[in-house]
Amino acid sequence: MTLWGGRFNQSPAQSMRDLSRSVHFDWRLAPYEIEVNLVHLSNLMKQKIVSKSDGEILQKGLLDLASEIGSGKFTYNNDDEDVHSAIERGLVEKCGSLGGAIRAGRSRNDLVITDFKLYLVDHLLEIASAIINLAKSFNIQATNQIDVIAPGFTHTQHAQPITFGQELSKHSHALLRDVDRIFDWIDRNNYSPFGAGALAGSSIQPEPETTALNLGFSGVMENSIDAVSDRDFAAEALFIMAMIGIHLSKIGEEFVLWSSTEFDWVEIDDAYATGSSIMPQKKNADVAELARGKSGRFIGNLTALFVVLKAMPFAYNRDLQEDKEPIFDSVDQLLILLPAITGMVQTAKFKQSNISKGAAAGYSLATEIADFLSKSGVPFSLAHEVAGECVKFCEKNGIELDQMSDQQLLTMHPNLTPEVKKFLNVSGAVSSRTSAMGTSKNSVLAAINKLNQDISGVDKVIASLRKQFSGMINP
Ligand code: ARG
Repeated sequence: MTLWGGRFNQSPAQSMRDLSRSVHFDWRLAPYEIEVNLVHLSNLMKQKIVSKSDGEILQKGLLDLASEIGSGKFTYNNDDEDVHSAIERGLVEKCGSLGGAIRAGRSRNDLVITDFKLYLVDHLLEIASAIINLAKSFNIQATNQIDVIAPGFTHTQHAQPITFGQELSKHSHALLRDVDRIFDWIDRNNYSPFGAGALAGSSIQPEPETTALNLGFSGVMENSIDAVSDRDFAAEALFIMAMIGIHLSKIGEEFVLWSSTEFDWVEIDDAYATGSSIMPQKKNADVAELARGKSGRFIGNLTALFVVLKAMPFAYNRDLQEDKEPIFDSVDQLLILLPAITGMVQTAKFKQSNISKGAAAGYSLATEIADFLSKSGVPFSLAHEVAGECVKFCEKNGIELDQMSDQQLLTMHPNLTPEVKKFLNVSGAVSSRTSAMGTSKNSVLAAINKLNQDISGVDKVIASLRKQFSGMINP
């Protein structure tokens, strides 16, 4: 069914229908559309645009339709153009021509964005919960690895020793920023476009403010042309999801590297690995690789919408129908990826002795020498030079920094007294960094505690937002 046709002499060509049709992907907006229709209908009744008795018939029709959509009994057919026309057809099938009364005072242009925003609130909150599960898993593993000393890397070269708990818990901080961005998104985009009509509002649109509040929004948008044009919210959501994808890709890359024979820092559980059809010995970190690979898709979806939006004239243009599939794809992919990554992290077995083995290698304690000299009053630039000389000396003689004799140290600089040796071991180096952000056990534990507190705050915010947006039906 189409929602137009009166002024046409001919029905659309099949190729035109095929191009125009969106119901096969926008059908997932159906539960939100019913919710918007119910709220809209109660306003139409309040304003007597629809009589009480007709309204009650329509209300029942919409609620029946909602449960039939939920059970799969009602769905779109080959003639439906989009979710809006399919639902109106369903209502007409239930209530006769009265079904068409629901269309008063609204346009698909404002309706589709309202549905879309409600869908996004719902699904971004689901993504936030899945992210929180991943952050919790990292925190548990990080706390278990708090005493393990590991080499810390820059440029993928040994840099300075760190605690492995800090290495793992760093991911939780990035993940919590992602959740924060979701809340920030809701805060900014929590305004209803419903009532903007096609572009200019409607003289029979009763109280858009009430509709907005009843749907869970904080209020209405302020300019009807902006309201039907705005897809910033969709682009921002795609950015948030791309950023999450990038974080997951970095986790993936790390697990690929750590599970390699060369590193051998982690055993990925069989449940989260795959084998090879030809090489019987293989165990591949496919979850991690897919996390890496899918980031391309998230970034692609963001780029696709940016290109659609660039230089588009204001108000509604049909180009805007292209806003949905990138969002649906990013949402679907994240909701598949996040539980798998979480499972991989939860079940990973870290090989502590292999991790610690290399902590002192690569002269990663050279900075301790520079810091020691600097604390004794030597300008850091000179201290850095002297520490570099020590590395050169050790490399040439095939020894480690802590194997230099007292005399050799003093020859490098008179302030390089044997006391420096106290700092030339990995645990001394790690535990000396006690400030906020530091890698000492206490600093890392404090940061993990703070993360855990933030996480319980997040759970509460998610619950209250869910309540705010819990509609008349449950999508
Ligand atoms: N299917 C359209 C979309 O997703 C909404 C319908 C608006 N169509 C129209 N011809 N004004 O954007």
